Amino acid sequence: MKRLDGRTALITGAARGIGRAFAEAYIGEGARVAIADIDIARARETARDLGDAAIAVALDVTRQDSIDAAVAETAQQLGQIDILINNAAIFTAAPIVEISRTDYARTFEINVAGTLFMMQAVARHMIDRGIRGRIINMASQAGRRGESLVAVYCATKAAVISLTQSAGLNLIRHGINVNAIAPGVVDGEHWDGVDAFFAKYEGKAPGQKKREVGEAVPYGRMGRAVDLTGMAIFLASDEAEYVVAQCYNVDGGQWMS
Ligand SMILES: NC(=O)c1ccc[n+]([C@@H]2O[C@H](COP(=O)([O-])OP(=O)(O)OC[C@H]3O[C@@H](n4cnc5c(N)ncnc54)[C@H](O)[C@@H]3O)[C@@H](O)[C@H]2O)c1
Repeated sequence: MKRLDGRTALITGAARGIGRAFAEAYIGEGARVAIADIDIARARETARDLGDAAIAVALDVTRQDSIDAAVAETAQQLGQIDILINNAAIFTAAPIVEISRTDYARTFEINVAGTLFMMQAVARHMIDRGIRGRIINMASQAGRRGESLVAVYCATKAAVISLTQSAGLNLIRHGINVNAIAPGVVDGEHWDGVDAFFAKYEGKAPGQKKREVGEAVPYGRMGRAVDLTGMAIFLASDEAEYVVAQCYNVDGGQWMS
């Protein structure tokens, strides 16, 4: 008996990176998974790689019609949605005096409004069908404190932690547990983009920032997507029934709270 046997999950931003690793881990535990992403070509490729238990679903978390369509399509193809992972996000960095309203609005639209309105759509689905579901939001160590060049992204992740607390308290009366995971620094394509921002603003050579952050992790290296899968499985499993409105650090010892 696997820990997620018979369950279904919708994972946003699962075409690559951490979301993809979650999809693979959930399938390994017996779940069927919707790989929901704005990059539908990559989502299809990922779903193909992961086999029959995966489907690809087009999703832009900034558009309500796209959210509604993705939830309906997932429910139709997989039967229902037991687990939602709000994983899609973008990173941005700039000194305070250079932050643009466009960049601010886009980052909040994806990272914060996307998380909130995905939670809303899936919670409605779960409540309508009496599903005692699970919602997992991807926060970050960036949501635990500010960073000199990362004001907007940090603020979005602090908002994700706050939304997790409020939604967790509001939805547990329906038997829906909402919790979050706060990773530290996780290697992958996302970090190539982060590294480029620091190369631009701190004059670092390409790859230098990535090396430095890895060396600064108490564990001794950057995280890998698979380092997070144990927590994602636990939070979706029966063992986490009494875990409500929490945010867990999985970061090699970088943050304590
Ligand atoms: N990588 C890290 O170091 C790190 C650290 C802390 C937290 N996180 C968080 O973990 C999550 C996953 O990170 P990752 O490193 O795998 O990122 P990633 O950039 O590799 O993947 C993000 C995915 O989201 C998708 N996406 C972007 N905009 C979208 C939209 N509007 N609608 C739907 N999908 C969209 C992208 O196509 C991509 O597949 C994010 O929430 C991120 O903030 C990552």
